[in-house]
Amino acid sequence: MSLRIGITGIAGRMGRLLTEEVAAAGAVLAGGTARSGSTPPGGVPILRDAVALFAASDVVIDFTHASAAADHAAAAADAGTPLVLGTSGLSPEAEAAVARAAGRVPVVYAANFAPGVNLVLALAERMAAALPADAYDAEILEMHHRQKVDAPSGTAVALGRAVARGRGTTLEAAGVESGRDGHTGPRGTGPIGFAALRGGQVVGEHTLLFAAGAEQIALTHRSFDRRVYATGAVRAALWAHGRAPGLYDMKHVLGMA
Ligand SMILES: NC(=O)c1ccc[n+]([C@@H]2O[C@H](COP(=O)([O-])OP(=O)(O)OC[C@H]3O[C@@H](n4cnc5c(N)ncnc54)[C@H](OP(=O)(O)O)[C@@H]3O)[C@@H](O)[C@H]2O)c1
Repeated sequence: MSLRIGITGIAGRMGRLLTEEVAAAGAVLAGGTARSGSTPPGGVPILRDAVALFAASDVVIDFTHASAAADHAAAAADAGTPLVLGTSGLSPEAEAAVARAAGRVPVVYAANFAPGVNLVLALAERMAAALPADAYDAEILEMHHRQKVDAPSGTAVALGRAVARGRGTTLEAAGVESGRDGHTGPRGTGPIGFAALRGGQVVGEHTLLFAAGAEQIALTHRSFDRRVYATGAVRAALWAHGRAPGLYDMKHVLGMA
């Protein structure tokens, strides 16, 4: 029997692409949630709430809003339904709820479902391990479309965490310099810099810079089509079905863990 995949926020930009990619993967669309006023893609069964959707699905894919993440994670755990979570900007409390759910069901939670980005994350960690923090300043520059509501992007933060890991520390311990404006004083040694640009319909661009006194290295990833995230998320849903409970990311799905 084909896998039944549910989609929260099915009328959203990602929800619509996910609907197409579920069909392209040969899975069955179990249904979706949409708040009143949204126009879901034609012919899709719309369930009254997330709890009903999780009960009716073998796996649910959630690309909605950070404020809904904790409820969706709890619904996944209660229904025993694996969750593929792509929503960005989660609070520490929401991340804790996701971790709790992962104790009961498989959860694939990734800041970015594009395969190329996940390769960049792996490379970022290796580069950071090779380039001493006191000689190479790490700066992360991202640009997204004007509708994006959170900054820095989840992928930029994931890049920062990869750099910190490569340096044998955490992002929190390394420190962050972001949103520089006015008289900021000189750059610190060790903190990881973040800058966010917003405009137009840029799908997603991330550049990691290592800047030293006499050289600079840049690693750039550009997404040209949001569909790359939907394809990756559906691939993660197929992978998650039947797995043991746990918190996974795209590294696991792509066999890079
Ligand atoms: N991890 C990745 O690879 C990746 C890639 C792309 C995007 N994202 C993230 O995915 C999320 C959605 O992006 P998008 O561009 O598709 O946004 P969007 O077009 O605004 O769609 C968001 C959807 O979520 C629903 N929603 C909003 N708040 C909700 C709530 N409190 N409860 C339930 N549903 C709610 C909306 O429902 P209504 O239509 O009813 O308002 C809408 O259908 C964002 O966090 C974005 O950053 C992640």
